[in-house]
Amino acid sequence: MTGTFIVIEGLEGAGKSSAVALVNDFLVKRFPQREIVNTREPGGTPLAEEIREIWKQPRQEPMAPITELLMVYACRAQLVETVIKPALERGAVVLGDRHNLSSVAYQGGGRHLSEQVEALSNITLGEFKPTLTLYLDIEPSIGLERARQRGALDRIELEQLSFFERARQCYLVAAENDSAIVTIDASQPIEAVQADIISALEQSL
Ligand code: TMP
Repeated sequence: MTGTFIVIEGLEGAGKSSAVALVNDFLVKRFPQREIVNTREPGGTPLAEEIREIWKQPRQEPMAPITELLMVYACRAQLVETVIKPALERGAVVLGDRHNLSSVAYQGGGRHLSEQVEALSNITLGEFKPTLTLYLDIEPSIGLERARQRGALDRIELEQLSFFERARQCYLVAAENDSAIVTIDASQPIEAVQADIISALEQSL
């Protein structure tokens, strides 16, 4: 595949949306001739967006952790097979708002399903992985406070602080063991966060 797959990751309130906008602007300027495809997970195709709606909705019937995991991988399989891989084959730059590392963190760490995440990741993705992942690191208590100020919380955002602390640990361990994941300190002033993001892109691309 000739394309480039860049992913933005982080806990709620880490500044993921602003980072996606910044990286998108950078890519448009840096690669004016290349197609840029924006994706988000869970979601990014009509079918996956429908599953996302069901998945994020707080509900009376508790969702079993394994159901949560299977649904998020159903979305990912659909997105990777029908959008991301074809785009990369065309030579596009794909900019992902979350990808597999979210499952490693939230379902692996948060829900204690690391083995199942690994198995599903192998089945769904095999060796397929992003060229570069920018992980925006924030203390969960700070990030959640920011998320709460944005309005109504979804099913995952209603989890206990300890859930997000476990997720953060998984992000940090993954970043330590993989040079294709760059950790950005998202607790810095916005200008410093942006400068670190641009410098990580310059180095990697
Ligand atoms: P967001 O895209 O608005 O951040 O919402 C997605 C939510 O879903 C967020 O709480 C993280 C969570 N999530 C998982 O738990 N596992 C996953 O694999 C993905 C992609 C997201």
